[in-house]
Amino acid sequence: MTTSKNKIQFLLGNKLTEIDFNSKKIPPTTTVLNYLRSLPNHKGVKEGCAEGDCGACTVVIAEESNNKLTYKSFDSCLIFLPSLHGKQLITVEDVGNSENLHPVQEALVDTHASQCGFCTPGITMSLFSIYKQDFIPSKEFIIDALTGNLCRCTGYKPIIEAAHKCCGEHNHDNFSENENETILKLQEIKKTSDNIAIDTGIQKYYLPTNLKTALQLRTDLPASTIINGGTDVALRVTKKNEIIPTIIDLSQTTGLKQITKTEKEWSIGTGISLEDVRVEVKEIFPALYEMLSVFGSKQIRNKATFGGNIGSASPIGDTTPVLMAYNSVLVLKNTKAEREIKLREFITGYRTTQMNHDELIIAVKIPIPNKTEIIKSYKISKRKDLDISTVSACFNLTKDEKSIVKDIFIVYGGMAATTSRATKTEKFLIGKQWNRENIEKAMKLIDEDFTPISDARSGAEARKIMARNLMMKFYNDTNKS
Ligand SMILES: Cc1cc2nc3c(=O)[nH]c(=O)nc-3n(C[C@H](O)[C@H](O)[C@H](O)COP(=O)(O)OP(=O)(O)OC[C@H]3O[C@@H](n4cnc5c(N)ncnc54)[C@H](O)[C@@H]3O)c2cc1C
Ligand code: FES
Ligand code: FES
Repeated sequence: MTTSKNKIQFLLGNKLTEIDFNSKKIPPTTTVLNYLRSLPNHKGVKEGCAEGDCGACTVVIAEESNNKLTYKSFDSCLIFLPSLHGKQLITVEDVGNSENLHPVQEALVDTHASQCGFCTPGITMSLFSIYKQDFIPSKEFIIDALTGNLCRCTGYKPIIEAAHKCCGEHNHDNFSENENETILKLQEIKKTSDNIAIDTGIQKYYLPTNLKTALQLRTDLPASTIINGGTDVALRVTKKNEIIPTIIDLSQTTGLKQITKTEKEWSIGTGISLEDVRVEVKEIFPALYEMLSVFGSKQIRNKATFGGNIGSASPIGDTTPVLMAYNSVLVLKNTKAEREIKLREFITGYRTTQMNHDELIIAVKIPIPNKTEIIKSYKISKRKDLDISTVSACFNLTKDEKSIVKDIFIVYGGMAATTSRATKTEKFLIGKQWNRENIEKAMKLIDEDFTPISDARSGAEARKIMARNLMMKFYNDTNKS
């Protein structure tokens, strides 16, 4: 194992680029967006919001694994520079220019889909990420890939048309021509440098590539800030101008990126992106798939992780209720030992958990549900896409052949300081007939289970109504054939 001090290397387009954090006086928490905007030829990337909402800063990052490159779209306003180490950063300037348009750009021109100069570079990069997938995308896939690109002039139709026109199988472009060379260059970077450690005198930034190093850092630096995808923590820098003194960035820690599947359960590493989790779990954990499908945008899900969503213990974190409904178990580890704890017991209060200062959550174990369990998840937010929950709910119901409730687990997000169970309602329903009359009685009990607050997202009374109605929605959904 080598430790590389103060320097990172990546490809900017095809050009090997090195950043020495000491000599250039660049803080390691410089966002990729701000770095690009400081260069002479990369102004296509724009800052609209600096919080992952508009997509004007979208770039594509290619990553090498097993001699293959995967291309994904990201909001460059939420990525700190060190996490580019060993990757290829692609901006709209690298994709093509007016003399040599990329097929995606040609399609945007042909369908009259280019409207304003502020959003079009980001939209081009989202379409480019679809182009690099090597399959014919469905309309749903295209729309999902564009949810993170806001366009206020309502011009999505020609953009979707452009995607249909240019994206398909065996797509060819200058990137596929150079793919082998790019793979070799990225492998070379990773071979020569590992476990990046940056110390500028003001900030320390660690990028451990293996779990052992990550856990040792966690023990040695208990007051450090952990980041995984960084979609929560980055806002502390972009919105609050905070100078975070010490960061342990787990985004390249390979030990957090495995999925192990048995007949009993799946164990999902907490460093896997939520988009990769979403694609994997569709058939086996459909309620989790549904929730992840309305989680942020493609750019956010390409970065965000279970580690960050569970670790931050937000009362409106979307994965916690659904993982609780599946009765998931967290695996926590420090340098000496590993322990398991039920997610239903993990969160102790507003953003507090049972995790010790030297531990990391390394995996989430999700038991495969019995055939008799009916599990569903719901999210209410002001917008369908790219919005945080106002109220969310998840249910896990088992009833017998006579429709008597044998067991029910009901959990809500956004109704209390933590993700919370509706215990009185659960108790009332167990042993009762699963019918409309009892559901209406149960809906009234939800009011006794929670005293929600009013905030910018909703009034307390509206939250209660939403919670009651989600109960009824679940009942109706269980009666659908
Ligand atoms: C535009 C936008 C849209 C969003 N939409 C949603 C949404 O729809 N639903 C939703 O729930 N959230 C949403 N979020 C919030 C955020 O994306 C999620 O909470 C995400 O899952 C955080 O994951 P991360 O890996 O990026 O977290 P990070 O920022 O990397 O980490 C956050 C914190 O989690 C803890 N942590 C991270 N990894 C570990 C680990 N392995 N072990 C222990 N602790 C750890 C640390 O304390 C860390 O400081 C959104 C955010 C943005 C900016
Ligand atoms: S600037 Fe709006 S998403 Fe990055
Ligand atoms: S393309 Fe910019 S607002 Fe529509």
